Amino acid sequence: MILVTGGAGFIGSNFVNHFLATHDDAVVNLDALTYAGNMDNFAGTDHGDRHVFIKGSIADFDRVSAILQRYRPEAIVNFAAESHVDRSINFSRDFIDTNIVGTYTLLEAARAYFATLDAAAQARFRFLHVSTDEVYGSLGPADPAFAETRRYEPNSPYSASKAASDHLVRAWHYTYGLPILTTNCSNNYGPFQFPEKLIPLMIRNALLGMPLPVYGDGQNVRDWLYVIDHCEAICRVLADGRTGETYNIGGNAEMANLDVVRTVCATLDRLRPRDHGTGHAELITFVTDRPGHDRRYAINAEKIRRELGWQPAETFATGLEKTVRWYLEHQDWVERATSGAYREWERLNYAERKTR
Ligand code: NAD
Ligand code: DAU
Repeated sequence: MILVTGGAGFIGSNFVNHFLATHDDAVVNLDALTYAGNMDNFAGTDHGDRHVFIKGSIADFDRVSAILQRYRPEAIVNFAAESHVDRSINFSRDFIDTNIVGTYTLLEAARAYFATLDAAAQARFRFLHVSTDEVYGSLGPADPAFAETRRYEPNSPYSASKAASDHLVRAWHYTYGLPILTTNCSNNYGPFQFPEKLIPLMIRNALLGMPLPVYGDGQNVRDWLYVIDHCEAICRVLADGRTGETYNIGGNAEMANLDVVRTVCATLDRLRPRDHGTGHAELITFVTDRPGHDRRYAINAEKIRRELGWQPAETFATGLEKTVRWYLEHQDWVERATSGAYREWERLNYAERKTR
């Protein structure tokens, strides 16, 4: 039995489905079901009683403690977070509450639970904290990729809150002996990603014939990783990672945003051509930049390759093809996910952005 937090979100639900398909263990999934949590992500799966879902917050100490005492997991994998940089610019408080106070509360509950375990169970127990490359800040074009030794220089409320959570996790290891592992991963994409993020947003807008809003000059660079590759990396770290260590995870797929959007358009042109013959790329619209927009992220994933033998299975080309096909086949999922409060967010984030 493992406890997964935030397991109804994009990466968390992919992880739960992947873990249950590849392991015999059961999963208790604690998720607050914010706008980003979606139980539709488990539709069509049949995990039986090996998947126990509980709606609740990692910031609720009594709730988390009761869950730990009842299910006695061998590991906690913490995905629960507010994860969208643009929202963090508008609603920073939510990021402090979940990413910092929530992680702190989860650590405290885990520490109390850990103290009740016998020596053998303590030796097995792991607290794996899922974090981001954004904690390292922004790279210039010729800078080396982020290694685990890179100093933290977060620039957005989101990355600052994740950096704070990473520091707490580290401290709970050094001070209290909690057997922690931290992973810092680059940009994920794939099935079940909420359409506020770049790739699913561009797919949705393109299919609706709406503008494809590229921030600034479109030359900001991200390193893209297919979500199942990330899930598999987490499984490896959980199984064989050295406690107290950090592992960077990346896709060896650095791309400028404009190239990503053009590739999405070209893929849609092939799989779902527009009626009147013009390509989807004509919808590309340059809009006002994100404040504090980090220019470039790049991951040096040598440590996890060397120590744990992990490498991504997908290239950007193969992963994007799968992703676009999935969104084309799951338009009902997209429609439901974007039918409510998302419209409000869309207005807030995009209506005031000037076209450049
Ligand atoms: P997401 O926003 O899709 O999902 C987050 C999930 O956490 C949702 O299901 C939400 O309901 C839940 N949640 C939020 N607050 C909670 C709380 N207080 N208690 C319990 N559950 C809560 O995020 P994601 O993209 O799946 O990211 C998951 C984790 O991976 C995050 O920690 C994020 O920082 C990290 N990460 C994401 C990426 C990426 O590209 N998406 C890359 C690297 C790291
Ligand atoms: O690097 C890992 C991070 O990747 C994770 O920690 C975050 O949780 C995840 O959201 C993601 O952050 P980004 O800010 O990089 O992702 P997003 O999809 O929001 O944006 C990707 C790039 O595309 C970024 O440079 C901003 C740009 N962008 C984004 C949107 C939503 C646009 O140009 N237009 C848009 O409409």
